[in-house]
Parts: sequence; structure tokens; C-alpha cells
Amino acid sequence: MRVLVTGGAGFIGSHFAKRLVAGGDDVVVLDKLTYAGNPANLDGTGIELVIGDIADGEAVARAGAGCDAIVNFAAETHVDRSILGPTEFVHTDVLGTMTLLEWARTTGARYVQVSTDEVYGDLEAGGRAVEGDPLRPSSPYSAAKAGGDLQVLAYVRTYGVNASITRGANTYGPNQYPEKLVPLFVTNAFEGEPLPVYGDGQQVREWLHAEDHCAGVELVLREGAPGEIYNVGGEDHANLEVTHRILELTGADPGLVRHVEDRAGHDRRYAIDDTKLRGLGWSPEHSFGETGLRETVEWYRANRDWWEPIKSGDYRRYYEEQYAGRLQG
Ligand code: NAD
Ligand code: TYD
Repeated sequence: MRVLVTGGAGFIGSHFAKRLVAGGDDVVVLDKLTYAGNPANLDGTGIELVIGDIADGEAVARAGAGCDAIVNFAAETHVDRSILGPTEFVHTDVLGTMTLLEWARTTGARYVQVSTDEVYGDLEAGGRAVEGDPLRPSSPYSAAKAGGDLQVLAYVRTYGVNASITRGANTYGPNQYPEKLVPLFVTNAFEGEPLPVYGDGQQVREWLHAEDHCAGVELVLREGAPGEIYNVGGEDHANLEVTHRILELTGADPGLVRHVEDRAGHDRRYAIDDTKLRGLGWSPEHSFGETGLRETVEWYRANRDWWEPIKSGDYRRYYEEQYAGRLQG
């Protein structure tokens, strides 16, 4: 199969592109190379990279020529950045998704939309979200992702596009841009910089290894049904617990932990039920608590040449805007 992997120069998309190639598929990546896109994530793979915007129909047609399927990882993905400025999120996550769906509609290609558990909003009262639950996104990021999901479902119903949706949990692993919780705290710990915990740190996320996330998406690509949604779950941990484990694994000074002003609209707890995907034969191979986080910390320890150059230039400007006031307050 020849597969167009959009966002394949980013964190999860690059794991996915490499996974498909290792399994014998032919892959072309379409990526705009935003701040989060990094061609080095595909180094040594020989995977063809087309630089372009998923919201540009011509670029999509050029990259997609001859492809049987498209898996859409391309997105603006960081909640904190969406709070600073939502426009790019709507452009890519909604308009970009629609542009890709138009291409799938014209060509008859199979389509998988990589979405997120954040579209369900937070589940303070307990329980776990199932695929048919209402969407209650809280942030401009999750609202844009929910908009993309709704476009997918509309294209299935109205035009008969052969599309499915995955909704993955918080993902961690090698090659994650150091702005999300795990890679930010791990690299800050190595540098002796503060670890800024939002609010009381008792927010709960499900932690899913990138390889397990990709295995779920691949299974849905091959065996998912049109119009169906599949949750891809992880392991529940509170942020403060993750923070303390990172301190242990890096050997950093516990005095680096700072409780700072909370994120606006911060979701307390995400929790999803992934029984449906397990019914297709998926189960995770990495345990966050036992091996997954440890191996990820070791990857960042061994690959400073990957993340040190990122943490300069534009990254520093973003970091100042996001954290300087909080860390002084
Ligand atoms: P990432 O931010 O690391 O990478 C996103 C990639 O998309 C980058 O390479 C970027 O250059 C590219 N991109 C952005 N806008 C584009 C555009 N308009 N056209 C073409 N390329 C564009 O993201 P990630 O963490 O790897 O997430 C991948 C997907 O998985 C996203 O759709 C995200 O919503 C979803 N997801 C992520 C997580 C997580 O915890 N990281 C969890 C669940 C779902
Ligand atoms: P993040 O990695 O941004 O993922 P998401 O918001 O998509 O779940 O954040 C994970 C959790 O960590 C979330 O509850 C916010 C919290 N967090 C902090 O406490 N401090 C930080 O500096 C960051 C980036 C996140």
C-alpha cells in the first residue's frame, strides 16, 4: 500500500511513517515543517518528504499522487499555544482536515483522522469516555480537533468517504518536541531548570507510548470501519506523580519543582474506554510506570544533540511568553 502520512515530520507521525516502511508499505510524508516539524525525525529512512500545507489542495494532490490511503497526523497540537493564539489551529485542524477529506473524496482513498481524547473534555465525576459520548472540548486546540472530527463524520455520511477516526491519549516517547509535559520536564531536569507544575498538579492524564499509539492507528487503517471512532488508551497518572518520577529517573534536585499559575480552562481529568480497539486485537506493549518513562528519559539523556538545538531561538521566545511571568510570580 502507498500511504500519505501528513505531519510525518512531527513526533507521532514520524514514528508512524517509520513503522509503515518497516512493515513493507510505501510512504510519502506531507509536512509544513512548522516549529514542531523536524526533518531530522526521518533521517536515514529514505522516506520522501513533500513540504506543504494540508490546507493547500494543490500540495495535497501533488503529495498524494498514487496513494491508496491517507493518515492525518498534521495538526497544531499544543494546548498552551492555542490559548496564546487559536487561528492556526482552526486553519490546520479544521480547514486542513477538510482539504484532505476533499482529496479522499475525489480519489476514493482510505482515510484515517488522528484525533485526541481531549475532544471529550474533562471527566471530573469519574467514568471513562466511550466513542459515542458528546464532544465537550475545553481549549481552542481541542475545539479545533473536534471540528476536524465532525468534518470527517460528515464526509462519511454525505459523500461516502471511507474514513475512520482514532482518539489517542497523551502520548510520550522519543522525538517529542520539548514543550509538552514529559519532554519539557525531562530536558529541564537535565539542564537544572525549574519544572513548572500548573496549579496543584493533581490533574490526571492517560499516558500512551508513541509506538502503542501508532500500532492502534495502523490497525484502524487496515481494519477499522467507515464512520467508526476508536479510542486509544493509556495508563492513568496525576501530573505531580509523573513529575516526581521524572526527578527520580533524571536524578535532578526535587527543589526544581515549582507550582505556578494554572492553565486557563485546564481540564482536570481525561479518561477513555478503549474496549472497542482492543476488540480489533490491539493492546499496549509499553507500561508507562515500569519501562516506558524510564526508556524515554534514557533516550533524551542519549540524544542531547536532537533537543538542545531546538531549545533556542523561537523556542526561547515561546518559553519566555509562557513561563517568565509564572516563574517570577
Ligand atoms: P507534533 O506537534 O509533534 O507534529 C505535528 C506535525 O504536523 C509537525 O511536523 C508539523 O510541521 C505538521 N503540521 C502542522 N501544521 C501543518 C499543516 N498545516 N500542514 C502540514 N503539516 C503541518 O504533533 P504530535 O504530537 O505528533 O501529534 C500528531 C497528531 O496526533 C495530531 O493530530 C494530534 O492532535 C494527535 N494527538 C497527539 C497526542 C499527543 O499527546 N501528542 C495525543 C493524541 C492525539
Ligand atoms: P501537555 O503535555 O501540554 O498535554 P495536554 O494538555 O494536551 O494534556 O500537558 C499535560 C499535563 O501537564 C496537563 O495537565 C498540563 C500539565 N502541564 C504542566 O503542569 N506544566 C507544563 O509546563 C506543561 C507543558 C503541562
